[in-house]
Amino acid sequence: MGALSVLVTGGAGYIGSHTVVQLLKDGYKTVVVDNLGNSSEVAITRVKELVGDRANNLSFHQIDIRDKPALEQIFANTKFDAVIHFAGLKAVGESVHKPLMYFDNNIIGTITLLEVMATYGCKKLVFSSSATVYGWPKEVPCTEEFPLSAANPYGRTKLMIEDMCRDIYASDSDWKFILLRYFNPIGAHPSGHIGEDPHGTPNNLMPFIQQVAVGRQPALQVFGTDYSTKDGTGVRDYIHVVDLADGHTAALSKLSDPNIGCEVYNLGTGKGTSVLELVSAFEKASGKKIPLVKTGRRPGDAEIVYAATAKAERELNWKAKYGIEDMCRDQWNWACKNPYGYPTQETN
Ligand code: NAD
Ligand code: UFG
Repeated sequence: MGALSVLVTGGAGYIGSHTVVQLLKDGYKTVVVDNLGNSSEVAITRVKELVGDRANNLSFHQIDIRDKPALEQIFANTKFDAVIHFAGLKAVGESVHKPLMYFDNNIIGTITLLEVMATYGCKKLVFSSSATVYGWPKEVPCTEEFPLSAANPYGRTKLMIEDMCRDIYASDSDWKFILLRYFNPIGAHPSGHIGEDPHGTPNNLMPFIQQVAVGRQPALQVFGTDYSTKDGTGVRDYIHVVDLADGHTAALSKLSDPNIGCEVYNLGTGKGTSVLELVSAFEKASGKKIPLVKTGRRPGDAEIVYAATAKAERELNWKAKYGIEDMCRDQWNWACKNPYGYPTQETN
């Protein structure tokens, strides 16, 4: 049997690029489609540099997944064993102001992808869902059986796509779906070669801290100091992006289990870290002081969110290996080597 072929949508992005490295290392043939709306082709060049000879197993196409004829061409050229679907818009605040843009990109994009997959008889999908579907959980850790809700249009797209997958599976049990609910990915590849490069001002905590550390932002605003947590600040389950990437190769292996239908797994560490704890770990890793401005709560934010990890450990045989210190070390290494993110063009 030859190597398995995987289509990765959004594979030039933050989580996608780290996952593509793992896929190539594990011997998969990998085709990436990405419209580069929130990423750079330099990420693909860097991935190739990281994997040596395995780079021959990677091809990249700048395509929008809503462009059905272009997507069909990709499927006509390669018979895929599975698809990992990262492509989507992900800024919560932006989704509140531009809901139609989010429904168009995330929902129409996914429908187009699923239609083309069905046409070409590829019925195995790993989907990037999010802990956002737990809303403000009544208790922690969040198990996969918790009630689901959407607090904003971005979250609604994740929930709708999860529901679409459940409905499609109910209508046709040839499909196999793994829905991965990510908690908070941070960090970067230990080489410092690839990492997160948000366009514009970052919305998320770690990229913001990084920009303060390299002098691109004057101070970090701490959103809320009056939560019922250890130090009053919000608590999240931060997970190293390389651990998250490994979760995808584990999910791909699981897709060959004949008993799998449509399954959901949390990908988190099971540990909660507060905003102030993360800042302090980053200060230690970087030797930089992060000035803080304590402000009010950010609307829509939950107090404490962390994952129950037992199901993924048991069924995917996967467990996060890295701790907060590793995440901060690798984030800082990426930041030092790429303080302004990827260059517009690779010069070396
Ligand atoms: P990212 O923005 O770095 O990557 C997404 C990629 O998809 C980008 O390269 C973008 O250019 C591409 N893309 C977007 N719309 C597209 C389209 N219509 N056609 C083709 N390409 C398109 O984001 P990420 O952090 O790597 O997230 C990947 C996935 O994981 C997203 O679906 C996101 O919602 C989900 N997720 C992310 C987080 C997080 O905190 N980063 C948490 C939970 C879930
Ligand atoms: N925070 C600050 N200052 C900032 C940014 C964030 O104090 O400048 C705080 C937030 O209030 C929260 C914590 O840092 O307590 C984490 O915030 P993030 O924005 O980094 O992450 P969220 O948990 O709010 O949301 C992220 C993604 C969602 C995703 C969710 C779960 O933005 O899309 O993780 O995966 F759904």
